Amino acid sequence: MKAIVQREFGPADVLVLEETERPSPGPGQVLVKVAAAGVHAVDTGIRQGYGPPTLPKPQLPMTPGREVAGTVEAVGPDVEGSWAGRRVVAHVGALSGGYAEYALAPAASLHALPDRVSFPAAIAAVGTGRTAQMVLNAARITAEDVVIVTGASGGLGNQLMQLAHSLGARVAALYGGEAKREAVTAFRRDGLVPVDTSDAAWADLMKAALEGAAPTVVLDGVGGDVARTALESLAPGGRHVIVGWASGAPVRVATDDIVERSITVGSVLGGRPADLRTLETRALEAVARGDAAPLVDEYPLADAAAAHTAIETRRSRGKVVLLPAHARPGTAHR
Ligand SMILES: NC(=O)c1ccc[n+]([C@@H]2O[C@H](COP(=O)([O-])OP(=O)(O)OC[C@H]3O[C@@H](n4cnc5c(N)ncnc54)[C@H](OP(=O)(O)O)[C@@H]3O)[C@@H](O)[C@H]2O)c1
Repeated sequence: MKAIVQREFGPADVLVLEETERPSPGPGQVLVKVAAAGVHAVDTGIRQGYGPPTLPKPQLPMTPGREVAGTVEAVGPDVEGSWAGRRVVAHVGALSGGYAEYALAPAASLHALPDRVSFPAAIAAVGTGRTAQMVLNAARITAEDVVIVTGASGGLGNQLMQLAHSLGARVAALYGGEAKREAVTAFRRDGLVPVDTSDAAWADLMKAALEGAAPTVVLDGVGGDVARTALESLAPGGRHVIVGWASGAPVRVATDDIVERSITVGSVLGGRPADLRTLETRALEAVARGDAAPLVDEYPLADAAAAHTAIETRRSRGKVVLLPAHARPGTAHR
């Protein structure tokens, strides 16, 4: 089979398509014929040798990829035979190996997919979507809220934008520059305000577009100056939820923000929730219901390096997925 193999830690071009042996499922495992594999910002750090502390540093050579969707090709010795042939998605965690035509997955990690959920959408749900569910729980968003989502063109921000809107909230969806506009406006809905942060006057433009409705929540995966401006636009009593800092620096917070304006600042990054599987199930249900229609940026499996570079150079839109040639021949772009 074809798989991306990484033999050293380093820049994106260490990701090379090679001919490798198809793995056999061991006890508790299935073999998935991969139709879509997820690429995550975290993967770019793992590739360079500095993954998150929750993941062990991988042994090389390795095949990256922790999110896998496809059809069960074979089951391990003690696995329920009825999984064979089913459409599934799985977050395989440290097992890795998703950037390939076939990948192993623990049977316990499998979610059966209804036909109406596409493989790329399932990928967006099982990893990034589960984080979005975690964020929504922490933010306790209701229809009364006016929510600013930073990085709404990105994998996580785009889902947060859609899900906050599905809860009835008014949403200001922040994106950076004309090239990213469509990633936000493709989800055209009443109550959703696209805001281009490359315009120096964006905060004023946002205020005008919100017609006097003061923001009550910021869902923030970007940090830096954009997040600081968003925080300053919060109404007294507002809450700023930190999800990440794609800009390189978390939002700056001063004691005055908390004492004088009663703003609450929290993070969803510190602990791991007890039940990630429940969050994955909720994320998949949100896609099946149509509450979230994840924006997906597709690359051929062979172009894994280009997919990493797109994330690292801020050119990706939505959730990045790799498609093996056998999955959708001729449809992946670039
Ligand atoms: N996805 C997850 O499951 C997950 C889980 C936990 C934490 N996080 C964290 O959440 C943040 C967003 O994750 P993601 O998966 O949505 O990443 P992503 O797809 O790469 O999106 C990040 C977005 O941030 C915006 N951004 C603004 N300034 C930026 C800058 N200087 N450099 C790069 N991007 C910039 C970009 O939008 P514009 O170019 O339109 O401004 C980009 O679309 C990251 O910090 C990530 O570590 C993600």
